[in-house]
Amino acid sequence: MPTLFDPYTLKSITLRNRIAVGPMCQYQAHDGMPNDWHSVHYASLARGGAGLVTLEATAVSPEGRITPNCLGLWNDEQAQAFAPIVASIRKTGATPGIQIAHAGRKASANVPWEGDDHIPASDPRSWQPIAPSPIAFGPDLSRVPHEMSLADIERVKNDFVEAAKRARDAGFEWLMLHFAHGYLAQSFWSTHSNKRTDRYGGSAENRGRFLLETLAAVRAVWPEDRPLSARFGVIEFDGNDEQTLEESITLVRKMKEHGLDFMDVSIGFSTPDATIPWGAGFMTPIASKVRQEAGLPVTTSWYISEGRQADGFIRNTILDVATLGRPLLANPHWPHEAARILHAKNAQSVLPPSYAWWLSRYQ
Ligand SMILES: Cc1cc2nc3c(=O)[nH]c(=O)nc-3n(C[C@H](O)[C@H](O)[C@H](O)COP(=O)(O)O)c2cc1C
Repeated sequence: MPTLFDPYTLKSITLRNRIAVGPMCQYQAHDGMPNDWHSVHYASLARGGAGLVTLEATAVSPEGRITPNCLGLWNDEQAQAFAPIVASIRKTGATPGIQIAHAGRKASANVPWEGDDHIPASDPRSWQPIAPSPIAFGPDLSRVPHEMSLADIERVKNDFVEAAKRARDAGFEWLMLHFAHGYLAQSFWSTHSNKRTDRYGGSAENRGRFLLETLAAVRAVWPEDRPLSARFGVIEFDGNDEQTLEESITLVRKMKEHGLDFMDVSIGFSTPDATIPWGAGFMTPIASKVRQEAGLPVTTSWYISEGRQADGFIRNTILDVATLGRPLLANPHWPHEAARILHAKNAQSVLPPSYAWWLSRYQ
């Protein structure tokens, strides 16, 4: 029976334990470039003891950023600036991962603490968002996106491929495609945002096409021995959940056939009219269902905040890896605390000796 602190091997990569740092936008970049903020932030999360540190949603093109302050991987200068961050994560014993993303109709927004809404079109910092159909998300993100042409679709798929190559060459060992949270890929999948009448809209097969084609194109350039994962919103909590989940699981099976290794099960966030049953670990039964029915290893996040709870999800093979976001912002040493609470044999090995020596003596 695996535990939270057992290593986890997928392809040629072994995570030192089954705790993952979820991707979390920092909104601290300029022109998509990582800087000192990202170096310190990611190195401290890695030093804190997690097995996998996944860098935040990193845009595959300037138009694919959520805000003007999002990270990017659309040029080689950015790729070079990621390399030392990758090295510092690896040096701690954690595995460096990155999420590549296109924000679709949610692009060109203010950072959360400045409104989280669309930057007015008249503001020179804004840009024109694109999406499968010209439908705005809702009152806060009210800008109507341009409907993507078939040429736009090809271009964005290629942007994902180029970003994946740069992530590969920068040394990332785990790649996550952002297919969730109402951003571009999710908005192809969701009937809330996709009203196309061509081969990218209508049936579930057509709505899934952009995701599968992007995945297959990325797989062709992402090394076979490194894990390729996706974070996918399998449910919207919009009252149509049974059908959405069933269709999503069918799509996840196809993703597996197209070379996906691992699924991060998440929420669609395609409509402001969702009623989400927030609560401790509330996504874990859904992740477990995806795991069983699609036959892929899974993780999920959302209110997994206690060591015993996370360990239980692993021991009961509900999850293969437990992903945490806010608890790790609050305390990057959460893995160390969890190891102590669980009396894990390798409780100290999650910290470097400069910390572990003292903490093992005096606690
Ligand atoms: C500050 C912040 C930024 C986030 N940015 C991203 C992101 O870049 N990509 C993504 O898929 N999810 C993002 N999320 C969602 C987290 O990865 C995670 O799924 C969510 O916070 C739930 O986990 P938690 O309850 O442990 O915080 C973000 C969450 C936070 C708090």
